[in-house]
Amino acid sequence: MTKTGAGVLHIRNLSVSFQSGHELVRAVNTVNLTVKPGEILGGLIGETGCGKTVLGMAILRLLHPDTLISGEIVYNGTNLLALGEEEMRQIRGGGGGIGMVLQNSVTSLNPVVTIGRQIAESVELHQGCTGDAARSEAVRLLKEVGISDPETGGYDAYPHEFSGGA
Ligand SMILES: Nc1ncnc2c1ncn2[C@@H]1O[C@H](COP(=O)(O)OP(=O)(O)O)[C@@H](O)[C@H]1O
Ligand SMILES: [Mg+2]
Repeated sequence: MTKTGAGVLHIRNLSVSFQSGHELVRAVNTVNLTVKPGEILGGLIGETGCGKTVLGMAILRLLHPDTLISGEIVYNGTNLLALGEEEMRQIRGGGGGIGMVLQNSVTSLNPVVTIGRQIAESVELHQGCTGDAARSEAVRLLKEVGISDPETGGYDAYPHEFSGGA
C-alpha cells in the first residue's frame, strides 16, 4: 500500500455485529455510501446508539478483532478489511488519508497519560520522530489550536482537565 492522500471511499453493504453472551448485537446494518475527494458528507445523522461511532471505528479498523464485520470498505481501490495492521496504520493519520476526531476527551483518551504525551505518541507513530522532536511537535500542535497556557491545559494536562465540548 503506497498510495497516500485523500481518495474515494466506497462502503458497500457494511454490517457490524458484536457477540454479547449468546446474542448477536447488530450495530451497523447494511450501510452503503461513497465519499469522493473534496466532498463533505454531512448526512450521517441518527439517535444515540444508532451506530455512527461504530461505523467510524469499523472504517479505521479500530474495533476488537472478534467483532463481526461484513461487506466492503474500499479506499483508493483497496479493501481496508483485507489489510494487515501495519498497512492499516499507514492509512490512519499522518497523511495516510483517514483520521477520526473523537468527541469526548474523557472516554477517548487514556486518562492516566498527559495530553501532550498522547499527541507525541501519535507523532512518533506517524511522522517517525522520537523523544524531544516528538515533544516539540506536540507542543507546536497544541499552540496551533490555542492550547499552550499551563493554566488552561497544555502538554502536561490530563484529559479530565479539558472541556468535553459543547
Ligand atoms: N463493543 C461493543 N460491544 C457491544 N455492543 C456495542 C459495542 N460498541 C457499541 N455497541 C452498541 O452498538 C450500538 C451503536 O453504538 P454507537 O455506534 O456508539 O452509536 P452512536 O455513535 O450512533 O451513538 C449501540 O447499541 C451500542 O450499545
Ligand atoms: Mg457516537
